[in-house]
Amino acid sequence: MIEDIETILYHETTLLSRLDTMAAEITAAYRGKDTTVVALLNGSLIFMADLLRRIPLPMHIDCLSVQSYQGTTSSGSVNFRQTNLPDIRGRHVILLDDILDSGRTLHAVSTRLSQCGPKSLKTCVLLQKKVRRTKKITADYVGFTIPNAFVVGYGLDYNERYRNLPFIGILKASAIE
Ligand code: IMP
Ligand code: MG
Repeated sequence: MIEDIETILYHETTLLSRLDTMAAEITAAYRGKDTTVVALLNGSLIFMADLLRRIPLPMHIDCLSVQSYQGTTSSGSVNFRQTNLPDIRGRHVILLDDILDSGRTLHAVSTRLSQCGPKSLKTCVLLQKKVRRTKKITADYVGFTIPNAFVVGYGLDYNERYRNLPFIGILKASAIE
């Protein structure tokens, strides 16, 4: 896998020290609140595991599976892979995703979740790219803002590969079909 990486943007130590800061901010903001974290699979799996273990508050954790990307391009539509949404009525919800790009995914999911009666709804992403935003949405908590390149690792995939790399790296053009 590593031979397909052009450059490493963030090593694991850099990612984890940023998560320390994000977790401290979230802990301060959600203390004493009935909180549910809704994480989008599969991309936010590793981010979720590392972030939430740094937040020493009682909380519910739910996952939703959605898909918008095929290869390195957004398909334009967001498909929910399950019909049942988590029960978030009256709860403070933090929606987690790996990366905010066009904004379609977070926009579609936060629209659906906000119809389920949460007390509040905020969004948290590890990465954001600013260039290709087509939906008017900003994330409340952002790990890193990255250039408009296709990145993999630490949960992010190219055609379901590279998710288990421990760092975030830019994929070589030669590895993209
Ligand atoms: P959006 O709907 O265009 O904002 O894209 C969000 C989703 O696209 C994320 O959940 C990722 O699964 C995927 N995505 C966007 N950019 C990248 C990337 O650079 N690498 C891997 N996946 C990406
Ligand atoms: Mg993906």
